[in-house]
Formats: sequence, C-alpha cells, structure tokens
Amino acid sequence: MKDFTRQHRISSLSEYTKAYDSSVKDPESFWSDIASSFKWKKKWNQTLKWDFEAPDVKWFLGGKLNITENLLDRHLEERGEEVAILWEPNDPDEKGLSISYRELHRKVCQFANAMISKGVAKGDRVIIYMPMVPEAAVAMLACARIGAVHSVVFAGFSASALADRINDCEAKMVLTSDGNFRGAKTIDVKGVVDEAVAKCGCIEKVIVYQRTKSDVHMESGRDLWWHDAIQDVSEEHQAEEMDAEDLLFILYTSGSTGKPKGVVHTCGGYMVYTYYSFLNVFQYKPGDIYWCTADVGWITGHSYIVYGPLLAGATTVMFEGVPTYPDAGRFWEVCDKYQVNQFYTAPTAIRALEAHGLELVEKHKLDSLRVIGSVGEPINEEAWHWYHEHIGKRKCPLVDTWWQTETGGIMISALAGITPNKPAHASLPLPGIQPVIVDSEGNELTGNNVEGNLCVKFPWPSILRTTYGDHERCKHTYFSAYKNMYFTGDGAKRDHDGYLRILGRVDDVINVSGHRMGTAEVENAIDEHPKVIESAVVGYPHDIKGQGIYAFVIAETDGIEDEIKETVNKMIGPIAKPDKIQIVPGLPKTRSGKIMRRILRKIASKETDNLGDTSTLLNPEVVEEIIKGAS
Ligand code: PRX
Repeated sequence: MKDFTRQHRISSLSEYTKAYDSSVKDPESFWSDIASSFKWKKKWNQTLKWDFEAPDVKWFLGGKLNITENLLDRHLEERGEEVAILWEPNDPDEKGLSISYRELHRKVCQFANAMISKGVAKGDRVIIYMPMVPEAAVAMLACARIGAVHSVVFAGFSASALADRINDCEAKMVLTSDGNFRGAKTIDVKGVVDEAVAKCGCIEKVIVYQRTKSDVHMESGRDLWWHDAIQDVSEEHQAEEMDAEDLLFILYTSGSTGKPKGVVHTCGGYMVYTYYSFLNVFQYKPGDIYWCTADVGWITGHSYIVYGPLLAGATTVMFEGVPTYPDAGRFWEVCDKYQVNQFYTAPTAIRALEAHGLELVEKHKLDSLRVIGSVGEPINEEAWHWYHEHIGKRKCPLVDTWWQTETGGIMISALAGITPNKPAHASLPLPGIQPVIVDSEGNELTGNNVEGNLCVKFPWPSILRTTYGDHERCKHTYFSAYKNMYFTGDGAKRDHDGYLRILGRVDDVINVSGHRMGTAEVENAIDEHPKVIESAVVGYPHDIKGQGIYAFVIAETDGIEDEIKETVNKMIGPIAKPDKIQIVPGLPKTRSGKIMRRILRKIASKETDNLGDTSTLLNPEVVEEIIKGAS
C-alpha cells in the first residue's frame, strides 16, 4: 500500500525547522502545497485573504470540494478494506465493530440519501445528540456529504441547553438515539430530546438510532427510527460540491458571557489543517491503530476522532464507555486489546486513573503504545510524570497538545519523537502557527523568559470564521483585545529554552475536567433557582478535575445547596454542577457594582493571606464574613 501521507509527515528536527521557517516566510505556498494533495472538484484561485480587524479570513478561495470525498472516496481504491473505525462498546462483553473504509463510505452515502429524502438540503443545520456509536460519525459525515451543517451537542447537556443550541442555529433536524449506555447507567437521551424539541419550533424531523432498546415515545409525523429511515435506501451518493468557505459545522462553546457561542468552521481550511496536524503531532503511519478517548461532542472528537484521522486514512478507535467501567483499568485493557499505537486523552482522566493505583495498570502490557498525548487543560508535572512513566513506560513521547474549539486543530505541541518533550510544556508551535506572547498593552514580548497573554498573529487554515449569527461577538471576543491578533484567552510563558507553557485562562472561563465552562453561564443557571438573589462563580484548584466550580450565592434561605445543584443540572447538565456552594450574606463589589472575582478566587483557593486592598470596596465587611463562612 502506498503511503500517501509520507510527503507531509515531518520526520526529523531539521525537517521541522525547515517546514516551520518556510511556513512563516511563505505561508501561502506552504499551505497550497499541502492542500494540493487533496481531491478538489475545482482548484482555488487565491490561497488566502485575511483581515483580523473585520475579522475576515478565507482560505483556498474559489476552491470546490467535498471533505467526505477526501476522507472516504479517495481511500477506496488503495485502502477500501482497511479499518476506518474500530468501535469498542461500553460493555466489554458486547462485541465490538470493525468498519472498513468501504463500509463507512456505504453507510455515509446511504444516510446522506436518507436525510435528503426527509427534507434536509445544503446549508440546513442538523443537530447531532448521540452516544459514541459509529452512527454518530456517520451522521456527521452524511451531513458533510450533502452540505448540511452539523452541530454536535454533547449528549450530557440538559434539555434546556440543547434547546438553546437548536434555536440558536435554527436546526431542522435532530439525530439522536433511544438511550445511551454510560458505565453502569442507561441514560434517557430521547426523553431529553423530546423535552428540548418541545421548546423549538424549527425542528421538523427527529431520527432515532436504536441503541439501548429503551421504551421511548415516538412523536407521530416527526420521529422515525434510523433503521427505518435507511430501509431500501441507495448506498450510492454523489457528494455535493461545496465551496472551500462553505460552513462545515458549528460547535457551541462557553465564553465569558452567559450564552454559549456557535464557533463556525468551514470545509477547505479545516480539512487541510486537521489532516496535517494529526499526521505530524501523532506521527501516524499506515497500519497504526490510533485512539482518542474524547467524545464527538467536543472539538477533540471532531478533529481527532473523525476528521483528521479519516483524512489520513487511519484506523481510529471509538469508545462508547467511561474510563472507570467496569473498572479503572478499562483504558489500558482496550489499548492492549486493539494494540493501540497512539493514545490521546485528557489530564483529568489521567489524574482520576492514577488515584486508583498502579495495580490496574500493571495488569496490562501497554507494549504497543508508541505515542501518548494530552489535551484540554494544563497537565501538571506530577500527572505528566505518572503518565509518561507508567503508561508510556518512559519510551513514548508525550505530546501535550494546546488548542481550542476556535483553532480547529492542534496549535502548539511537540511532534512525537521529533521535537523535544518537556514536562507540562506544550512546547513549540506547529508549522504555520505564529503564536506571540503580549503584555497588557498588546506589545509583543520577544525572547525567552517572558510571560503574558497568548495571541496568534497570522491566520492558519482552521481558524474559526465567525460565531454563528453574531459576527460582532466573534470580533469582540477574539480580535478586539489586541490589534491585528487573534486572542486566545489563555496566559502563557516562554521559558528559558524557548518552550511555551500554557498557564490557563485569563478570562472568566474555567476549565473543569478539560471542559470549558463560562462562569456567567453557571451563574445564569444558579440564578434560575427561585430563592437565589445573586451568585458569583469562580474556579478553584481541584485534584482530579484541574479546576472545580465554587459558587458564592446570596439566597433567601439556607439549606438549598442541593436544590441549586439540581437547578444547574437541569439548565446545563451534570458537568456544570458546582463542587462547592457557599451561601453568603453579600458579594464583594466595587463602588460601580462590579463583583470582585479576584477576591472570591482567592477565598475559594484558600489563599486569604494576601487579598490586596479591600478598603475601596462598596462593602468591605462582607469579605471577612465570606472567609469565616468558607472555613
Ligand atoms: O485553556 C486552554 C485549555 O482549553 C481551552 C480550550 O478549550 P476547548 O475549546 O474546550 O478545547 C479543548 C480541547 C482542545 C484552552 O483555551 N487547553 C486545551 N489544551 C490545553 C489547554 N491548556 C493547557 N494545555 C493544553 N494542552
């Protein structure tokens, strides 16, 4: 089998330096060369047009393609019988699935035809609210095939959060399942969809994949089973011609205001960048088995379970369950079972599994692993060393990959075994990525040993294009803080060796178990409780989750902590439930009425020795009372 990926895989440090230099000197030729290896229906006539003020970024202008032709059809001749998706079910006793590129192609074409027959057309939005079954990937790819815009919503979000997303993008269809197996639990996914759709006038059809065989309500005229929808439907489909800048998907993510924003990615640039970054960071070679443990509801699942790996013709493992079921050795068991070569997970999972002790690790060989990776939050040195030593057996490079929903792909990371590994450091930018550290005035801090806010000064192909339906918000959030730069919202340090270390968010976003949570979003949910008057939410260091959610709440009465948690569960979902709730008599405010979160953050982190000057507060006396209450 020809290794078509060889030409773009960097295989030495000097090749990295060369690629990086040329990507900065002449970004257009650099990306053009990579893009040329794909199947285009029509070649682009301009590689890049950009203006960070507007913002307006376009790649491969005038180019026409369909991303699914590049991740399916293109592979059929050479590797049609190779495994595309290896599916591991929640229950280890249930038989897994091994789906070849040819089968996946057939399934995607068939479901594409089914969606068209149910009224979905190019440009329509489709919500995917599904468990981690191969059909979730089929659903995404079928949308891409017909030019519908998918928006996957993590199936742990509540009905209210789901309804907000459906309404925001005015989706026409929901793809879901009857239920979801997660560890020992069965989750009523369809019930959540029913409750959500009742609040949305735009949904015309709901297609339900049968997974748990639960007894669910099927709304006549609206709901139909997946297996009925594909009955007698053709497995051939001519992929829709898409412009490089047509929308591929919308993915909602939290920001520092209450409402999640729909990050928009487009077809051409996202394709080129996810392929290139996947190949180089993980050093994937044909025949390798690659496993990313994320859920398709997050960007990691989009870029590095589905799109990146399939574009590279890889075998990607998809896991339905949770790391601790039936025991905390499940990840390691699956690594051995499929002889996984590249394993990619989140620091929170590492810390949680570390806490279960080594016995469950040592039962497994883990000798197939060649590369291990981390994503979603800073990986602390302790977890880094445990992962490197006990899982990677000190022989696997550990790639600490920094990126965001908005960046579409990995931006700063070691390339496994090629560029140096340094504990807790994302390290060096990928070719094509020009990160800068700036001070509060936006001056670039050059040289080593500098710390400030992390920005990127030049566009890369998978940069977000807008926030759906609200371009001003995109401009304000990412392109207004510093002139002519994309602002990431993270702080970073360039150390004495020139390696980048991500220091965490500098805005009102917290990172709970690698999931982004806007404090305002959690506050809005808490405030829904009828007895709550006002609340303020901050993050605090948490041994397993990285950051925990600490809510300071002014309420009409004590003893409603559990009710508040339930309110948040209902408004957003279990991932947003506060770890700690403190009922307080007041919140520290400036004279203009702004809550002083800095003080609350210190109290939540038990750093009350140095609270700074509180005398200028409107209500300085409240600080002492909160400290007393916290202890
Ligand atoms: O704060 C950074 C953190 O996660 C944020 C992005 O979250 P999200 O869009 O949900 O995407 C997560 C998966 C890509 C970033 O702003 N983050 C992500 N990866 C790392 C990280 N922080 C430190 N090190 C990382 N490797």
